[in-house]
Amino acid sequence: MPVKTDEKKQHFDDIYVATTPVPYKTEILDKLEYISDDNNRQVFDRLILPWVQQQQGKLNYVDLCACFGNTTMATVCGMTYKQICDNWKDEDSCMTIQEKRRFDCHTTAIDISANAMAYCKKTGLFDEAIVVDLNDSSLEEEQKQVQAAMANADIFLSTAALVYLDLETIERIVQAFASKPTEGYMLVNFLNPFSLEKADETKRVLVKHLDFVGSMAARHRRMSPLEQENYPGETWALLELWVLRRKPKA
Ligand SMILES: C[S@@+](CC[C@H](N)C(=O)[O-])C[C@H]1O[C@@H](n2cnc3c(N)ncnc32)[C@H](O)[C@@H]1O
Repeated sequence: MPVKTDEKKQHFDDIYVATTPVPYKTEILDKLEYISDDNNRQVFDRLILPWVQQQQGKLNYVDLCACFGNTTMATVCGMTYKQICDNWKDEDSCMTIQEKRRFDCHTTAIDISANAMAYCKKTGLFDEAIVVDLNDSSLEEEQKQVQAAMANADIFLSTAALVYLDLETIERIVQAFASKPTEGYMLVNFLNPFSLEKADETKRVLVKHLDFVGSMAARHRRMSPLEQENYPGETWALLELWVLRRKPKA
């Protein structure tokens, strides 16, 4: 099943399914100045990392719609946008992640792109990778794996991604994450100016199941020529970055 995209937003499906992240680097990170991982790292370091550093033992970390794992390179490995671009500069260089993990964790990537998931596993950026169309509930075995990963997660990232998922899918996943009895954190992005009503509905689902912790707003990336036609006068897509926490269990 194809990736669902707001018709006013640029489609990047062919880049997500490439065999390496090099097209993601040249077509998105470079051409559109996709700087948002600097902001993801900044908000992670401010609102989640201090808690992470106090934990003993391995944390379970899930990157939902991870693609080639650029945001995990930023949050888990502490890499900057520039370092990620340099690491992904060519087909050889991209096969070795240049920085080590900053904390002890078991990392799981989830995405519809089998090629991106194969890359994530092969480089060791992720310990586990699940290939699934999250919106397709008929994929029983894969959806069971997703539910188990979410119900076990301590840190849950979904950056520039929930816009692709149906609300029922989002609720099912967030509910599974919320069910674990221990403290746990989610970092999520909302894009502007795309699908604002959907973003509002998504926010309502999130605050139903999780406590709001903090947020920031930043530039995400430049809008493509098609997007600038669809949204006259805008040149940058903006990003809201939210951190939420599991509600304490009674
Ligand atoms: C914009 S990329 C986000 C990558 C990364 N998280 C970031 O912030 O740069 C969106 C990802 O969502 C994935 N995706 C889209 N629809 C999906 C679906 N129905 N199920 C699973 N993954 C999906 C795409 O394959 C793509 O890798």
